[in-house]
Amino acid sequence: MVRKPRPATLPHASGKPLISEKAERFTESVIRDMTRQAHLYGAINLAQGFPDFPAPAEIKRAAQEAIAADVNQYAITWGAKSLRHAIAAKMKKWQGLEIDPEAEITVCCGSTEAMIASLLAITNAGDEIVVFEPFYENYGPDAILSGARPRFVTLHPPADPAEEWRFDERELRAAFGPRTKAIILNTPNNPTGKVFTRAELEFIRELCVEFGALAITDEIYEHILYDGARHLSMATLHGMRERTITINGMSKTYSVTGWRVGWAVATPVLTNAIRKVHDFLTVGAPAPLQEAGATALSLPDSYYEGLATAYRARRDRLLPALRQAGFKTFVPRGAYYIMTDIGGFDFPDDVSFAQHLVKDIGVAAVPGSSFYSRPELGARQARFAFCKTDATLDEAARRLRQVKKA
Ligand SMILES: Cc1ncc(COP(=O)(O)O)c(C=O)c1O
Repeated sequence: MVRKPRPATLPHASGKPLISEKAERFTESVIRDMTRQAHLYGAINLAQGFPDFPAPAEIKRAAQEAIAADVNQYAITWGAKSLRHAIAAKMKKWQGLEIDPEAEITVCCGSTEAMIASLLAITNAGDEIVVFEPFYENYGPDAILSGARPRFVTLHPPADPAEEWRFDERELRAAFGPRTKAIILNTPNNPTGKVFTRAELEFIRELCVEFGALAITDEIYEHILYDGARHLSMATLHGMRERTITINGMSKTYSVTGWRVGWAVATPVLTNAIRKVHDFLTVGAPAPLQEAGATALSLPDSYYEGLATAYRARRDRLLPALRQAGFKTFVPRGAYYIMTDIGGFDFPDDVSFAQHLVKDIGVAAVPGSSFYSRPELGARQARFAFCKTDATLDEAARRLRQVKKA
């Protein structure tokens, strides 16, 4: 969550604070804090987006074999050759994009590092980054850490929860200007479940071309889609191959959020800068897990069909349970979260509501305000993750029925 600067407590001999202004401008992650609270109160964790079921056996085996074969030292800093080639082959197959694995891919410690490395590689003080809100919590601090100024554009919730969240074209255009360096786009979207349509992406494309801006697209939920929704990569749109940094990773598609393997794909000039930043940030992602990544990315199409089908069943298990408990639910078309309206409960705000859920009801959710630059926009919202087993979801549903309605 982004917050206003406040004076640091410890003074330096110079009289200046010891804590950097950048670090003072944001709080620790509310999502990760909710996980700690879930541990503390023994609550079911529907806050943080990690699966509580096993990863595919073949990729676990590949990781075990890589360690047994002593793939235990640094990989090439920008990624093991096998994984980079697998990424290029998969992007060709699924997106029709020709990517040079030697010059256009940087493997990082998760898509989280790919995003901050990309921002650090392209931004100077005073540059502006356009970010849709609600946004995945990291983007706000990412923009601050990179020295850029975020310009937030609201995704408006639909009046009918079965409809889509939408941006206002005039509001988006107004956020672009001569200082705009890039727009961050996350589709399928966390937390709203929105999957951006071709028409919406075309509108964004036109603005990027007009203002000479880049698009940084976080596509880590690309295979988790429902109701016939189709994922479209920004880099495939006319004129965007050169203007897009495509970010993806293993965490969500292969249920291995703890492995910390992700990547950024961009033209050689951009990649060169991203690789330098990445090298000095982390040197490299875990070597044996990159080898397992090459196996994962070569899984047959049926794997991805099975993934989407299983997630649809989980979504359709939690949606009615939340409704029955008194939540108004926004129906996601992609990703594995349900954003809800908590107006039907008698609580002053989302934070006190989330505290009640985790302490008294035994279910951790994320207060909506943590996804907004202006907390009031999320004060009636809470997000639930459904990347969990049926047993976990059913027990959460049972507990949620105890929440008192207004
Ligand atoms: C939109 C989005 N991007 C990135 C991440 C983190 O991905 P990784 O584990 O690859 O760092 C998450 C995790 O929840 C996410 O929702």
